[in-house]
Amino acid sequence: MNYTENKCLISPHIDRIPRFSKPLKLGVLASGKGSNFKALVAASRNSYLDADISLLVVNNPECEAIRRAEELNISCTCLDHRNFSSRELYEIELLKILKPFALEGLVMAGWMRIVTSTLIEEYPNRIINIHPSLLPSFKGAHSINQAIRAGVKITGCTVHLVRADIDSGPILIQASIPILETDTKKSLLARIQVEEHKILPLGVAIAGKYWRELRVE
Ligand code: GRF
Repeated sequence: MNYTENKCLISPHIDRIPRFSKPLKLGVLASGKGSNFKALVAASRNSYLDADISLLVVNNPECEAIRRAEELNISCTCLDHRNFSSRELYEIELLKILKPFALEGLVMAGWMRIVTSTLIEEYPNRIINIHPSLLPSFKGAHSINQAIRAGVKITGCTVHLVRADIDSGPILIQASIPILETDTKKSLLARIQVEEHKILPLGVAIAGKYWRELRVE
């Protein structure tokens, strides 16, 4: 027995990622760097994940994700939330962008906006979020700092289906990540993101299997 082993753990363990003869048709929402968006596109392009990433929508005209979409040659629309007086009005406009793509699922890959039933009810059980903590611990926008401050020794990341309550909804897959004594927000985020980039394609495939079983391929 190795008493000092200090590894990340992904659960559930997926031996073989679910395959789809017709690729999952996905849209991605992002607000920031877009590294999870990039990882998802990479997984689809290297045939690890059978998915067709049809478009990216961002809410922030300054975000790096826009540049990633350009590099990856994926259609990107910026819908600035500051031009809308309510979340619902914003989402009505967002739906106008998404609907023509006939998406099977929507992936919130660093989407820093609370979503409401206006969006959720159009994609029941078909919106996926990635969050940098072991949910249900440390919900919200400051989860990494909260985990460090709480003194927990293990944190992680979670891919889950979206419900109206923030960072809630059925959990698809999680990865655990040890917190080191020397960790800062930056160093911990970097290690969390390595695991996020692994579990996001897996979480999407788990959800995709469920969607296809519900409605047949
Ligand atoms: C990720 O850590 C994700 O968990 C959180 O926002 C971050 C987005 O990172 N919701 P990126 O924009 O994908 O690099």
